[in-house]
Amino acid sequence: MSDPLRLGIAGLGTVGRGVVRIVQRHGELIAARAGRAIEIAAVSARDRSKDRGIDLSALAWEDDPVALAQRADVDVFVELVGGSDGVAREATEAAIAAGKDVVTANKAMLALHGQALAGLAEARGHVIRFEAAVAGGIPVVKALTEGLAGNAITRVMGVMNGTCNYILTRMESAGLPYETVFEEARQLGYLEADPELDVGGIDAGHKLSLLAAIAYGTKVAFPAVELEGIGKVRIEDIRHAADMGYRIKLLGVAQMTGRGLEQRMSPCLVPADSPLGQLQGGTNMVVLEGDSVGQIVLRGPGAGEGPTASAVMSDVIEIARGTRLSTFGQPAATLRDPVPARATAPAPHYLRMTLVDKPGALAKVATVLGDEGISIDRMRQYQHSDTSAPVVLVTHSTTRDAIDHALSRLPATGVLTGEAVAIRIEKV
Ligand code: NAP
Ligand code: HSE
Repeated sequence: MSDPLRLGIAGLGTVGRGVVRIVQRHGELIAARAGRAIEIAAVSARDRSKDRGIDLSALAWEDDPVALAQRADVDVFVELVGGSDGVAREATEAAIAAGKDVVTANKAMLALHGQALAGLAEARGHVIRFEAAVAGGIPVVKALTEGLAGNAITRVMGVMNGTCNYILTRMESAGLPYETVFEEARQLGYLEADPELDVGGIDAGHKLSLLAAIAYGTKVAFPAVELEGIGKVRIEDIRHAADMGYRIKLLGVAQMTGRGLEQRMSPCLVPADSPLGQLQGGTNMVVLEGDSVGQIVLRGPGAGEGPTASAVMSDVIEIARGTRLSTFGQPAATLRDPVPARATAPAPHYLRMTLVDKPGALAKVATVLGDEGISIDRMRQYQHSDTSAPVVLVTHSTTRDAIDHALSRLPATGVLTGEAVAIRIEKV
């Protein structure tokens, strides 16, 4: 057998702990599969005295992840600290400069700096792998980079943030409002330190932009992702959607069109009986479509110690086997600049608004929609009171631009109380 592959693990939180556990538990199995032993040479975290429930007694300790990244006895730097910048990025750059391969679960860092980091690593003959950064335990990066390498990818779609899916499914199953379930998610430790990363769709947008780079051979273009979070989804929307046979999901879609690369992450209605509609709790699902293969559906745990560490280990074992893959499936220097295109594919839309209850109110709304070329498919009025009438409309297929234009004109009709909400109904 060859020499052992020696890891330096920075970050011993949820994911780092899981990686240490797998290495310690499955040494023999991993060595047999990798053709060489995998050892942990040294680790780093902030607080050395913290009890992490794992045995670190035989491992060297570094307070500074940069020093860890530069150690002579480290072959692979495993970055599990997190954060787009700061010490995670600094230590990753130090590792590359010191001639190490890198494995990371850090989608935020790669979405913002992945192109530069991959370029630096590849120029020196090193690799950066990131299976754990997208959809936790689901091997979606490998599916796109390897399994589907012979396909022109036509669409990448999915639910990639478990916290949002937990919030949306819990609102429906328990009939609880967004604010209550958000607080529950906080108590359960599901939310990122900055919750806006989850509920604002940013974390899922990071992941989508990484998959799009592999799928379309383009530089990572996170700033071009059209982002809308779940903060405006009310329990009424979930109930109305359910009445009509739909569920609301934070759905990401990336596709290359004649106009350029469309990337959007937004709440969508999907049929309740579709695989995406059936997705419960923190589970993720990624749908990949290729010209030869057709459609692939991958479903599994999107976060948590075991699933995320499992994905980290798949990258470590890949490196131990001697497989050297470019970060984004082709050399970073060959990735093209994407032409970002606004997602304009028409679709039916769900509209919710509350109207003042007076003659002609609905007619005024219908006129605005008609002026914008929007045709109404279905309409329902719920919980009508003496003064106001909550109304739900489903439109025929129309563009988001037409919907946005109509929404901007509705306040001037003087018949709305509050803001109208529009959610796309996605064909899945
Ligand atoms: P975490 O539980 O917050 O752990 C972070 C670790 O980094 C802690 O051990 C912390 O040390 C250490 N750390 C923070 N700042 C440091 C510094 N300046 N110097 C040295 N160590 C430092 O985070 P996590 O959930 O394991 O996430 C790690 C990465 O995986 C992130 O990029 C995250 O986005 C990604 N990820 C996580 C999941 C998940 O399910 N958790 C899923 C997919 C991807 P102390 O323990 O001493 O405080
Ligand atoms: N906050 C992320 C989620 C963690 O909820 O999916 C896994 O990336």
